[in-house]
Amino acid sequence: MSDTEVLSDREAVLALMEARRSVGTTALAAPGPSPEELSRLLRLALRVPDHAGLEPWRLILLEGDARLEAGARLGAVYEEEGPQPDPAQRLKWAGIISRVFNHAPLAIIVVSRPDRTTKIPVFEQELSAGAVCMNLLHAAHALGYGATWLTGWATMNERALRVLGIEDGERIAGIVHVGTAKEVPGERKRPDVEALVTRWGE
Ligand SMILES: Cc1cc2nc3c(=O)[nH]c(=O)nc-3n(C[C@H](O)[C@H](O)[C@H](O)COP(=O)(O)O)c2cc1C
Repeated sequence: MSDTEVLSDREAVLALMEARRSVGTTALAAPGPSPEELSRLLRLALRVPDHAGLEPWRLILLEGDARLEAGARLGAVYEEEGPQPDPAQRLKWAGIISRVFNHAPLAIIVVSRPDRTTKIPVFEQELSAGAVCMNLLHAAHALGYGATWLTGWATMNERALRVLGIEDGERIAGIVHVGTAKEVPGERKRPDVEALVTRWGE
């Protein structure tokens, strides 16, 4: 590959990173990644810095009817345990939660499972799980799909976590929904880099 080709490839990567932004679940639809694209997406997702190579994460895929069933079961838990004191409100939100996986054809649960027996701080291992989520967003975008990184009630309620297949000692770093963007949202306000960066010693 010539220097010019390498440089234009790099420009393309940077342009993708500059253009990426989250696409909300309701703006995501089929088709999702093909089996080949999915395997590439997952391989890229797990290509993250990982102090001491502990692999302190795993992924759970929600596809096809499984995602509808998981949503229905989460909705049922919410009906009983949702934080809304008003039953009518709780029912309304239970309905919304039961449809959370109906939109995107693929949702990937990024499970953080730090090894607490090593000297590597748990925080660092959790950061690595966050990096998996971010890689998923970038790789999905580069493959031409929209994606969004969510958490919410289901990732913090004990019974909901069991429904999703989370085990003791594990937490959800994010649920990344992936699909074709029906519409791409406009740019949102981005951080003022100057305001957030200082130079040590100045
Ligand atoms: C760990 C984490 C959890 C999030 N959970 C939610 C959520 O539950 N609901 C929500 O509306 N946004 C949530 N967000 C924010 C969305 O991902 C949001 O759309 C995103 O910050 C948009 O930024 P982007 O355009 O740079 O992708 C979460 C973000 C992070 C990092």
